Amino acid sequence: MKLPLVELHLHIEGTLEPELLFELAERNAVTLPWASLAELRAQYDFTDLQSFLDLYYRALDVLRERVDFTDLTCAYLARARTAGVRHAEIFFDPQAHTSRGVPLRTALAGVRDALERSVDEWGISTQLIVTFLRDRPADEALQILREILAGEIPIDGIGLDSAEVDYPPELFTEVFDLARAHGLRLVAHAGEEGPPDYVWQALDLLGVERVDHGIRSLEDEALLDRLVRDRIPLTVCPFSNVRLRVIDTLADHPIVRMIDRGLLVCINSDDPAYFGGYIDDNLAALDAEFGLGPDRLALLARNGIEASFLTPAAKAALADEVETWLATQREAAGPATAIRSS
Ligand code: ADE
Ligand code: ZN
Repeated sequence: MKLPLVELHLHIEGTLEPELLFELAERNAVTLPWASLAELRAQYDFTDLQSFLDLYYRALDVLRERVDFTDLTCAYLARARTAGVRHAEIFFDPQAHTSRGVPLRTALAGVRDALERSVDEWGISTQLIVTFLRDRPADEALQILREILAGEIPIDGIGLDSAEVDYPPELFTEVFDLARAHGLRLVAHAGEEGPPDYVWQALDLLGVERVDHGIRSLEDEALLDRLVRDRIPLTVCPFSNVRLRVIDTLADHPIVRMIDRGLLVCINSDDPAYFGGYIDDNLAALDAEFGLGPDRLALLARNGIEASFLTPAAKAALADEVETWLATQREAAGPATAIRSS
């Protein structure tokens, strides 16, 4: 039995593996600036968030047709299943496609085609969160949200991503107000590279229910008190933090400190094709580095379930499965461990 997981911080565009990228380039006759897979992979040496985003947006140029978005999403869901993912709330960046001439409806329909097959084919329930690029004008985000609402295009929530510093959440208050008025769920990247003040703004001005990354909240005790008190989830992405040099090495990752502080943290992969692994790889690496053990792995899984936008009944069913997994782990470890950890 695999530990049942939910994934809450996953950019579908960040699951574009080099092999699929080359396949799509050929299919769509797109000339790539990289001569080989090796040459492309050699670019995956990022100095900060912006250096990653430059490559991420460039690579997306191979996504042209509806079926390309379906193939991308299916590839993620198939891999997520092997990781034990049972529910995924997936980010999608409309402006990364509309800005290069791909219609919103084409891209979204392609993603939806895959999501509609997800429960039957991979046993994964899904939700779709449209993320707006904070380094583009808020008016553009507002226009796209209005188009989605007017067209009755089914989405579950909105988020905020892309280059963070100098693009504070307060710029997007009107966008989030409109989304809230239409019953959409609200999340935002904050405190990844940006200061704790951006996390405060995301909470108090945008009214987000969940903070993506939020790792720099650790610099502000009053903010930590607030996050703990209100059980605001932080979707933490360890491989991403290392690759984007938010922290130096995995050994320096504050995940244990965050757990011990009582924060509602869960583990996610962000852009797994670029950062060296999927959600299971992130968890395995943390377990190897910090000796998390079954109890803290189960806690992280439970946190993800609590942080999700699933119904209470679906949350309870998945949480039961986590307890079953934990019991089998304790059994396998033998009676001494079972007594010690109980
Ligand atoms: N878009 C894709 N990945 C991102 C990240 N880690 N931070 C901000 N925007 C992103
Ligand atoms: Zn992200």
